[in-house]
Amino acid sequence: MAFTLDVTSMTEPAVPSGVRDDDWAALAERFRAAHQAVSVIAATGLYGYRELERQSAERARVTAFAAEVAGRYDDIVVLGIGGSSLGAIALRSALLPAAWNARTTTERSGRPRLHVLDNVDPRTITGVLSVVALPRTLFVVISKSGGTVETLAQYLVVRDRLAREGLDAARHLAFVTDPVTGALRAIAVRDGIPAFAVPPNVGGRFSVLSPVGTLPAALCGIDIEALCTGAMVMRDATMGDDLMRNAAGLFATLQWRAHAQAGQGQHVMMPYSDALRDLAPWFVQLWAESLGKVDADGMHVGPTPIASVGATDQHSQVQLFMEGPADKTVTFLRVEASADDVEIPRLEAGEKALAFLGGHTLGELLDVECRATARALARAGRPSMTMTVGASDAWHVGGLMMWLMQATTLAGALYRVNPLDQPGVELGKRLANRELGHPDFAASVLTSDLASDLASGAEDRPVPTRRIRVG
Ligand code: PA5
Repeated sequence: MAFTLDVTSMTEPAVPSGVRDDDWAALAERFRAAHQAVSVIAATGLYGYRELERQSAERARVTAFAAEVAGRYDDIVVLGIGGSSLGAIALRSALLPAAWNARTTTERSGRPRLHVLDNVDPRTITGVLSVVALPRTLFVVISKSGGTVETLAQYLVVRDRLAREGLDAARHLAFVTDPVTGALRAIAVRDGIPAFAVPPNVGGRFSVLSPVGTLPAALCGIDIEALCTGAMVMRDATMGDDLMRNAAGLFATLQWRAHAQAGQGQHVMMPYSDALRDLAPWFVQLWAESLGKVDADGMHVGPTPIASVGATDQHSQVQLFMEGPADKTVTFLRVEASADDVEIPRLEAGEKALAFLGGHTLGELLDVECRATARALARAGRPSMTMTVGASDAWHVGGLMMWLMQATTLAGALYRVNPLDQPGVELGKRLANRELGHPDFAASVLTSDLASDLASGAEDRPVPTRRIRVG
């Protein structure tokens, strides 16, 4: 089976706070209403992440470009942040062999290493620039808006380095940005830099299946057609309004219900798979930035997603999940078949702490620990569900990402918020732009509350500082 969702431990009697038999009819009705609200918006064309057939021409350009430059680069460095970086990181972990960047060129079959610079910490950028050979490096600058200060600052640093080494920008840069607007598009046109389009109706955190994720993936040899085919199969399987036949709807509805009716608004995503471990931070951004909003009644709503990884975090966060506040759900994410399992050798026969492990496999141990943690949580009355994917290949990973994007869209309707915007991050951006002297700052604040605070001087009034110095 390709994908399964086991929700037993979100229900009663497995956990006392779970869904009871006579709750299902109301939940199904609530889901149908949410589905209807999503359908109305979908008809306006806002959910472009689903329109993968329409994006096939741009996908073909990505594939052709990757083929054209194959062998030219040893390193691909992605510059981007938020929805413009987390997808590439998740795809790298899931679909390139482990320790990819540490392998030799032969072990990588000539394919390039993949670095993702998703911050402006000078330490990291300096570190990466010091280990790549610029003449053999392609920098992929990803910004849908073309106006994100962190990404543009990284670009300026890189562009200067390329110029200082006398390298042709058009051979060492590729952009992923809006098809028409923004600074990156203008620079691409001016300098003949290859540029790929993020469709205007595909939001940043929903963009992994556009060139935002597929360009870095294809450059490293990942099968992006299989990725998108798996996603389309999942999309088609999650379009209906019958709760028990829609895995995205069931995930969203049970999470919303746990929050709204059982006070469980902390949603842990816990892959028991190193291939899928970076799916958790990708999901965290999707769930947090899409759902943490002011709702239709002016209420502050939204779940708090938490990234965790099994079995590692059994020795860290699981204590909290078991005995801390009963405000969490845990979603276990597991892979049915792992291509490279390792048998545990039968050594140390005289040591009973070790001897029993011999003959099992590491994959089996991971899976047993996943099931045991779920059972332990249920015995402590803590709800969980388990998503299982058949394999960590491109088809399944595409399907899994679409599953979670569909669930987020539906959860937006359940929480009665717009999952596609992020008004809450604007103020911080504007304040930073003001301090840095952005020329459009004055115009950009006129529509916000900040304008009146600036006019009245309230924003610049000193606040008494409380700070202590140690040492
Ligand atoms: O999900 C989102 O919309 C954001 O996280 C953006 O991806 C992030 O702010 C980067 O934006 P951009 O791609 O325009 O540089």
